[in-house]
Amino acid sequence: MGSNSRNAVPGGLTTVGAKMLVALTGIALILFVIAHMLGNLQFHLGAEALDSYAKKLKDMGPLLWVARIGLLAVFVTHIGLTLALVRRNSLARGVLASNEPQIRAAGERYVNGYAYETATTASRFMVQTGILILLFVIYHLMHFTISPDETIPYGKVHQMVQTGFEDTFTSAVYILAQLMLAAHIYHGASSCLQTLGLRTRSTKAGISKIGIIVAILVAVGNISIPVAVLAGWVPTS
Ligand code: HEM
Repeated sequence: MGSNSRNAVPGGLTTVGAKMLVALTGIALILFVIAHMLGNLQFHLGAEALDSYAKKLKDMGPLLWVARIGLLAVFVTHIGLTLALVRRNSLARGVLASNEPQIRAAGERYVNGYAYETATTASRFMVQTGILILLFVIYHLMHFTISPDETIPYGKVHQMVQTGFEDTFTSAVYILAQLMLAAHIYHGASSCLQTLGLRTRSTKAGISKIGIIVAILVAVGNISIPVAVLAGWVPTS
């Protein structure tokens, strides 16, 4: 009874159900990151393009809030369920690592009975990069959305981004975060598709390529912005 509640996944989901939701929310987050990167790239077209794009988003009014709340729900579900699954795995591994033969035997039945996976290097790496991305998103929201530079007039998004990235330390944080994101997407994309049963012997190579291509495009697209500011390649209008 006690161990059941300790091992429960939120919402009473089975391990398979939780993994499916982690995969589906992971795909939704990758789609958000691609869309956000495409929007951000308008920085290179100048202030008018980026500011009017940001205004169009703000003019969506209540719909924007629906999208924001949806995104937050997806983000919280993805992180919450991942941590619950990781905790289950590590509890199972802890039992298996015990010196007590009886506890080990019980642990083996427990693990085999529920077909739990032991954590691979890739999955441990996913947790670390995931935590760093979470910290980055909090920093990023504080930087541009929650408490932006007050000396910059409201709606001047291009000026806000340019001023932000003129600081080398801020640019370095953004660039490092994009590398973490690329690593997370690279492993995450193919792992999501595997969980959804789409990664078979014949699709394996293609799916790995999709993961690499999306990871590189998102990282290069986003990194191009701080790099352009630091190099002085910013359109004047
Ligand atoms: C160089 C990279 C990036 C740039 C230049 C950038 C730029 C921006 C800007 C300017 C805003 C505020 C828009 C506004 O107030 O009108 C914003 C919001 C946001 N960004 Fe980014 N972003 C970058 C990377 C990322 C990444 C990698 C993520 C997620 C992993 C992310 C997640 C968000 C979120 C969740 C918001 C809040 C959206 C909202 O207001 O509802 N951004 N970003």
